[in-house]
Amino acid sequence: MISVVIIGSGNIAQHLFSVFSKQSLVKVKQVVSRNSKALSFFNSKTRITTDFTNIEEADVYIIAVNDDAIATVSQYLKNKKGIVTHTSGSVAMQSIKNNGNRGVFYPLQTFTKGQEISFKEIPICIEAEKEDSKRVLKELASLISNSVYNVSSSERKALHLAAVFVNNFTNHLYSIGAEICREANLSFDLLKPLITETANKAALIDPKNAQTGPAKRKDYKTMDAHLELLKNEKNKDIYALLSDAIKNKYGKEL
Ligand SMILES: NC(=O)c1ccc[n+]([C@@H]2O[C@H](COP(=O)([O-])OP(=O)(O)OC[C@H]3O[C@@H](n4cnc5c(N)ncnc54)[C@H](OP(=O)(O)O)[C@@H]3O)[C@@H](O)[C@H]2O)c1
Repeated sequence: MISVVIIGSGNIAQHLFSVFSKQSLVKVKQVVSRNSKALSFFNSKTRITTDFTNIEEADVYIIAVNDDAIATVSQYLKNKKGIVTHTSGSVAMQSIKNNGNRGVFYPLQTFTKGQEISFKEIPICIEAEKEDSKRVLKELASLISNSVYNVSSSERKALHLAAVFVNNFTNHLYSIGAEICREANLSFDLLKPLITETANKAALIDPKNAQTGPAKRKDYKTMDAHLELLKNEKNKDIYALLSDAIKNKYGKEL
């Protein structure tokens, strides 16, 4: 049995709590958060507290708070013997106040409160300064996912940067697409099969080989017409920048 204390009550805290709660070999002993309203999600399922000076003993502490608050919050755990981890893609393990037993438990996926997700396929990137602790984190991660990786802090930084491109930036482009549809009184539903096919293709073949569109074909008249249609100056800039990047990438190789 691995005992866990979760610090934070946001997206990651709630998803990890839910998936751990289904495991007989994991016991979430306590959830600690400054947000008493959000703590009500965990109430009656485990012990909850807003008092950071009253954190219980556990094998693993999972700090699931904003990246910028990880170091501050970890100060409350500096005298704990258990493994003190955070869940961030971009923060170094060394940012945790040194208790001599630090680690990382980073699930590489996008999580939103209330949005159900299956953990089994989510890569969990683990890191630990002690070999024994790495084994414990691997055991914990393997209980919820079939995809567990040892990833160093510098590798994780690169992974997170790549994730920003494939997830955050792509999603911003989806929202520009949705806005254009709204303005033309079209349903965004029309674009959903295209979104799914693009994502499926990127997973199946090298995205470099999957590229299509006017910039790749160098259809200048079409690109000019698109730029004229766009009213929002920021979106014009994004269109021009991305089209240039695509033209350059494929121009050299043709
Ligand atoms: N969401 C994702 O898709 C995702 C994926 C992988 C990794 N992560 C990582 O997981 C961590 C948590 O992300 P999240 O999406 O769960 O964030 P979130 O939903 O915004 O929740 C953040 C939590 O941190 C608390 N918090 C913020 N500043 C604090 C401080 N100074 N002291 C104490 N508590 C503080 C918040 O309390 P309040 O409610 O009071 O503000 C809240 O409970 C981050 O390191 C993030 O990089 C997120």
